[in-house]
Amino acid sequence: MRLEEFLEERTTADVSKVLSAVAKSSVRVWEALPIERGVTGGTNPSGDRQAALDLFTNGEFSNSLIATGAVAELASEEEAQPLTGRGALHVAMDPLDGSSNIETNNPLGSIFGIYDSALPCSGERIVASAFVTYGPMVTLTFSTGNGVNRFGLVRKGSNFVFELAAQDLKMPDKPEVYGFGGLRREWIPPVERFVTKLEQLGSKVRYCGTFVGDYNQVLKHGGIFGYPALKGKPRGKLRLLYEAAPMAFITKAAGGYSTDGFVDLLRVEAEELSATTPVYTGSYSITKELERTVSSGSP
Ligand code: AHG
Ligand code: MN
Ligand code: MN
Repeated sequence: MRLEEFLEERTTADVSKVLSAVAKSSVRVWEALPIERGVTGGTNPSGDRQAALDLFTNGEFSNSLIATGAVAELASEEEAQPLTGRGALHVAMDPLDGSSNIETNNPLGSIFGIYDSALPCSGERIVASAFVTYGPMVTLTFSTGNGVNRFGLVRKGSNFVFELAAQDLKMPDKPEVYGFGGLRREWIPPVERFVTKLEQLGSKVRYCGTFVGDYNQVLKHGGIFGYPALKGKPRGKLRLLYEAAPMAFITKAAGGYSTDGFVDLLRVEAEELSATTPVYTGSYSITKELERTVSSGSP
């Protein structure tokens, strides 16, 4: 089944326009990967250095999403201020996830949270979310809240189209793999103890430095991804609106759970657009256990 057909049957007109625009622009991003190289010297609101590809993807998705006429507000990890347009949806995007992997040709991603309320807000206002994986294949994985579906980019004659690759993906409820970012010596002690226990359980480490790439491992095999609270950075590194909440929405639709170490990540209110949060997202049981471990506060 083609993406356009699926969207028409299963999503609202506005969400369908946004996801179609994401799909079309992701092909142009994929074609730009070998071309838009190097750094720009600029930094984004989080203080990260901006690669040429960060700016290219930001421009590509900004133009196509505003042009849908379905997006009232578009906030980007790469911009200090949101763009405004006609429409009813509020989109928060990480146009290029895993920028440090551009030079190493490792997986990259794009993440989109589609909210029904002005930003910043909490993940409870997400009505749909999607992420693109630029890996050996280009895939678009998304949910409107009931089920997670994945489309893969395939060549048809002289065109590239997205075709259904997997429907109603479910995250296995077992701690098969784990991937935790940041320096281990910086993790807050409960997290360090928890990961040591995971290793004793036989969980295998899967960490490539791109949230989307590491997330795919957890979605497929079961386990947990974390970018923890750090001793010197208690609110962690990943951005709530652009990265954490949209992925937590998908995790929930796949039967898993996400937390900031204390509460359901989808309930955490973003105080400002670039607010960061500790992120632990994965299989239901193991992620609930992590939340108990961190929130019990045992030193
Ligand atoms: P971005 O490129 O959008 O800033 O995202 C990078 C993030 C996330 O994708 C990944 O999990 C994390 O940074 C990796 O951080 P470390 O390099 O500190 O491991
Ligand atoms: Mn990112
Ligand atoms: Mn990014």
